[in-house]
Amino acid sequence: MRTVEYVDGAVRLIDQTRLPEKLEYITCRRLEEVAHAIRSMQVRGAPAIGATAAFGLALVGDQSRASDPAAWLAEVERAAEVLRATRPTAVNLSWALERCLEAARAAAPQGVEPAKAALRACAQQLADEDARANRQMGQLGSALVPPGARVLTHCNAGALATVEFGTALGVIRAAHEAGKRVHVFVDETRPFLQGARLTAWELEQEGIPYTLITDNMAGHFLARGEVDLVVVGADRIAANGDVANKIGTYTLAVLCKENGVPFYVAAPLSTIDLSIPNGAAIPIEERSSDEVTRIQGLRIAPPGARAAHPAFDVTPARYVTAIITERGIARPPYEQSLAALFQPEGAPAAANA
Ligand code: MRU
Repeated sequence: MRTVEYVDGAVRLIDQTRLPEKLEYITCRRLEEVAHAIRSMQVRGAPAIGATAAFGLALVGDQSRASDPAAWLAEVERAAEVLRATRPTAVNLSWALERCLEAARAAAPQGVEPAKAALRACAQQLADEDARANRQMGQLGSALVPPGARVLTHCNAGALATVEFGTALGVIRAAHEAGKRVHVFVDETRPFLQGARLTAWELEQEGIPYTLITDNMAGHFLARGEVDLVVVGADRIAANGDVANKIGTYTLAVLCKENGVPFYVAAPLSTIDLSIPNGAAIPIEERSSDEVTRIQGLRIAPPGARAAHPAFDVTPARYVTAIITERGIARPPYEQSLAALFQPEGAPAAANA
């Protein structure tokens, strides 16, 4: 099944806070439940929260009792603001909401029922497109993975972080399916442990060989020449190629540069925000310090310890070897290559490697 679906008027998703112990699904029947699922990271990962927000909006649209299209639209717009406020860094969230709002606004003049149907269809299409984009990224990115490669990844950019298949882990999965005998180093990813809990779980399911390491071991293995490439996902990519991703990504990129190891980012076009000139303009989510002072509820620091918790960092474009998208592989200078990806099909493109 997909990470997130809209079934019988409810948003159904895998509760990622229960993994790897239990594969459990939750069903959100109210807007506040959808917002809570995103905020509490029961669903997380940039494309997955985008699709969840889109389905959340469809749910509000469907449940509305408004008979007047303007009143219906106002209700949907208010819900979009609630969802938009849940997590600030991944642009997929506001991108998905904007796209669905546009569909709702365009259909509203035809009446409430057609507008509800248009909103549902938009959310579903967006989810289907994400699944397709991930497979395309996998195919394209797999060409960058040599046979027998030892690949390091950070956080979880797998099926769980998307609607299906994954971005960075999708590239790894496609290389595995192509018989390339890859071995994956999985960064644990403190403090939320997306690597240890989720990426390791996904690799187990797929039978892809891996080694779990703590984040501070990455330099050791890179310096010893035991990692051939690094591939990570992204939450937002600025027009100049600066990449916001899970905290710790920047450190990894600098280590790659120092050790002459390629550092790849795999992300769909929905993660690229051309309205933002560079990474300094990307909002960085600050999460509760409890997630740092405790692991799975168990306190690991003195009572009252102060802790910082920026959930993401920004990797400057100069450390990024290439950005793998569903439309092609962008290489520096990113101002040009990323913009070219958004040209209509058939227009001259400078993006492909
Ligand atoms: O805080 P999270 O777990 O939502 O952060 C997720 C990441 O940073 C992922 O690498 C990113 O969203 C890409 S997922 C395909």
